[in-house]
Amino acid sequence: MTDTRQKILSALEEAGGAVVSGGELAEKLGLSRTAVWKQIAALQQEGYQIAAEAKKGYKLIPGEVFSGYEIERRLTTKVLGRPLYFFDSIDSTNIRARQLAAEGAPHGTVVVAARQTAGKGRLSRRFESPEGHGVYLSILLRPSLPLQEVNTATLLAAVAVADTVEELTGVRPSIKWTNDLCLNGRKLCGILTECAVEGESGRVEYMVSGIGLNLYQQIEDFPPELQKIAGSVLSETGVRVARADYAACLLKHFEALFEEGHFPENKKAVLERYRKGLFFLGQTVEVRGFAESYPAKALDIDDEGRLLVERADGRIVALNSGEISIRLPGRHNGYPE
Ligand code: BTN
Repeated sequence: MTDTRQKILSALEEAGGAVVSGGELAEKLGLSRTAVWKQIAALQQEGYQIAAEAKKGYKLIPGEVFSGYEIERRLTTKVLGRPLYFFDSIDSTNIRARQLAAEGAPHGTVVVAARQTAGKGRLSRRFESPEGHGVYLSILLRPSLPLQEVNTATLLAAVAVADTVEELTGVRPSIKWTNDLCLNGRKLCGILTECAVEGESGRVEYMVSGIGLNLYQQIEDFPPELQKIAGSVLSETGVRVARADYAACLLKHFEALFEEGHFPENKKAVLERYRKGLFFLGQTVEVRGFAESYPAKALDIDDEGRLLVERADGRIVALNSGEISIRLPGRHNGYPE
């Protein structure tokens, strides 16, 4: 947003909903009244509701605007979101972040969208990303990590999202291994981490942590096949907070864990927090693999982020997320009731 437009917006915000005359704005900014009017029209185009009252002036009507500017003005981070790319609509923020990575974009680059037309989920599934209902964002990281640490870095994202929802609503979602966040048995958030690895050294060239958070849907807004398993922060907590607040808060929590915590030096602490958030440790779960399904007791998460389960014959197995999914017996979706 241009400097002039920001100043007009600030003047209207400072007026707290009262009318500000076009003449006053023009004088304050050294512009003609026509130029002010053009800037007001541009702000309206950007989504701000500004009422023009004949012979009086302009007033800002409260309402949520989700834009790069609204996120950036809330950012408290040093690294994440600098730079930040915002799209009203895009195929997938993960795809765009990977393109940016290939073009040399720096560590901390963030891509946010108000809508995705081809949101990517795990295992080549689709992630529903409708306009006006959620935050879809991808964080490009260039950590100096061996490939085996990537798994735990993905768990860090789940802790950051749980911290965010808790800070903004007062309710902490639980984590379903590996990286779904849920409340009242409904999935609120999905995380997809993708990375590029250098063949020879096995070092991570970059990773993209993609986070999709359902915020405002009511259950009937979800496609019929998701209505039993999906939920939003609003449907499950009754709390509505602006999407720009979520995006900025999420980047703050992610940065606190990843940058300030110097991941992977703080890996133990991250894993500890992740374990605390998991809802099914100690319970019997159904492990569904490509080749077989079997009941097992969920024991723990190991230092590589794998789920340790005890099979009926007493064998302890470490499970990788790519290979299996977990169901709680008798539950339609595997999420806690
Ligand atoms: C899953 O639940 O299977 C993971 C869903 C991950 C969705 C997010 S939305 C932002 C980012 N861009 C994508 O295309 N996917 C991730």
